Amino acid sequence: MCGIVGFSGKEKAVDAIYTGLKHLEYRGYDSAGIAVNNNGSLRMLKASGNLENLKQKLDNDKLEGPCGIGHTRWATHGAPTDVNAHPHLSSDGKFAIVHNGIIENYLELKEELIKEGYKFLSETDTEVIVHLLEHYYKGDVKEAFLKTVSRLEGSYAIGVICSDNPGVAYAAKYFAPLIVGIGDGENLFASDVTAIIGHTKNVIYLEDGEFAEISKDKVTIYDFKGNEVKKEISKVEWDVESAEKGGYEHFMLKEIMEQPKAIKSAIEPRIKNGRIVLENEEELASACKNIERIVISACGSAFHAGYVGRYIIEELCKKSVKIEYASELRYSSPVINEKALTIVVSQSGETADTIAALKECKARGSKVLAIVNVVGSTIAKLADFVLYTYAGPEIAVATTKGYTTQVAVFDLFAVWLADKLKTIDEKIYNNLVDDIMQLPERIQRSIDLNPNVEKLARKYYKNDVVFFIGRNLDYAVGLEASLKLKEISYLHSEAYAAGELKHGTIALIEDGSLVVALACREDLYAKTMSNVKEVKARGANVVAVTDEDNKDIFTEASDVILIPKINSLFVAACEVVPLQLFSYYIAKERGCDIDKPKNLAKSVTVE
Ligand code: M6R
Repeated sequence: MCGIVGFSGKEKAVDAIYTGLKHLEYRGYDSAGIAVNNNGSLRMLKASGNLENLKQKLDNDKLEGPCGIGHTRWATHGAPTDVNAHPHLSSDGKFAIVHNGIIENYLELKEELIKEGYKFLSETDTEVIVHLLEHYYKGDVKEAFLKTVSRLEGSYAIGVICSDNPGVAYAAKYFAPLIVGIGDGENLFASDVTAIIGHTKNVIYLEDGEFAEISKDKVTIYDFKGNEVKKEISKVEWDVESAEKGGYEHFMLKEIMEQPKAIKSAIEPRIKNGRIVLENEEELASACKNIERIVISACGSAFHAGYVGRYIIEELCKKSVKIEYASELRYSSPVINEKALTIVVSQSGETADTIAALKECKARGSKVLAIVNVVGSTIAKLADFVLYTYAGPEIAVATTKGYTTQVAVFDLFAVWLADKLKTIDEKIYNNLVDDIMQLPERIQRSIDLNPNVEKLARKYYKNDVVFFIGRNLDYAVGLEASLKLKEISYLHSEAYAAGELKHGTIALIEDGSLVVALACREDLYAKTMSNVKEVKARGANVVAVTDEDNKDIFTEASDVILIPKINSLFVAACEVVPLQLFSYYIAKERGCDIDKPKNLAKSVTVE
């Protein structure tokens, strides 16, 4: 969703800000804008649509000045027009502001400000902030800023410049992502690391309720009471190439191909001398000791990774596992208390629904373990325990390596917990650890075995609807494969537990329907094949996904996708990879914007 960049340096801020915004494009947006402070005079340019539209304006009308702020807006309050695009200016022209998040009490504030005589130009909630700043400003920006944030309810990351203080940019964070980058003769703030990694690897992770003041050679952080806070400077582990396409046509394809390496990063540091060693494991083991059940909560693909985790944990740890959409958890009456361990899963660590579910579970007394990719994210900070997935930056909106690394962490966690709870013996434990260690190589083989997926996509890309069927883990993978296809190719697709098909959905199967049958769990193969026969009898074309030793499949299916043989419990990451490629090539054939599908945002920071 919205992206923010702030910059103070020696030269033209506009270049650094525009490049930063380019790196935030993946978050999803529908308009953009930049404001700079040139020796005490604020100038801004905004454009609806993509950054190219803004670039055209910037090319024709130079924005000079060493300090400024920029924004990519994903519309919530008001259409994606030039007027609603950020930055917004105060009536006296002294302040420019950019904002990510939602001001929940904006109507009440707007009414109050209108009575004071302020005129609103846009439909946004953001505009109340800039008028409040003007209202409270008596010559001290910090004071005005702190008074302003004390009036705001909701979530926000804010960037501000003030004409009276050329060379200084201000930022505040409250339940929306914001980090500060410490450069050499220049400093920045941004919604995430991708926007600043070209300048510096040194970052400060702001906490909610903190305010930053940056100039070219100084960064000062305050809390919302105005007290200075001493902050640790962290080093970002990855480099600028990780956030670039590296010769691939799309980020999604690059990220699919990176999966063997990403899974290795998730697994290897946690296996020492044949034993799984998790972060903070003594405390985690003690939190898990007397639990009666596990609740997994997440959204989208992270929910699907949780679905995989559910089957593996139940099978190995003999604990009841409930999986609940994070967006629904608060509206049900979940049995969550100190006897439950909650696991939340999130690539970005900023998903508003998942944050709300996490808080709900904590409030009910449950300890929360978070499986997260983005270091220092809100979910990582709020949880009692964190297992990072170490996938590196994921830029394509459709997650691939984000999902498979979550699955790999579930594989590790399930075996680790089974050992702690003594539900498996030493021999089984050792075999399972060996199987997990083989995952990076098996995933590479999953890619290598399927050079024909592109041809397969060309055969089927005109189909109107695709059904994915499978049982147990195959079904969980089908959910993810189906979502992948929907989100990037806009093809209607559904995933069904294979046995459910005959209870209604089979009515939709007709001549030429495409059914992708996931049949990688050997123990369930025969059952899934009977469902394959049912759809074939009604004219469907069947693409089967199974392991490479299975020779019978060629008589059952029209086309086959093979994956390497692996312990059935850990099949998910290998099985999903060729299906990610299948979706990718179908979307390409259909001429879709693969990395930035319509209507979607990378991290969904509104509920
Ligand atoms: O950042 P998160 O993992 O919390 O995001 C959750 C979902 O929004 C995300 O997985 C979404 O479904 C992806 N676009 C799927 O590719």
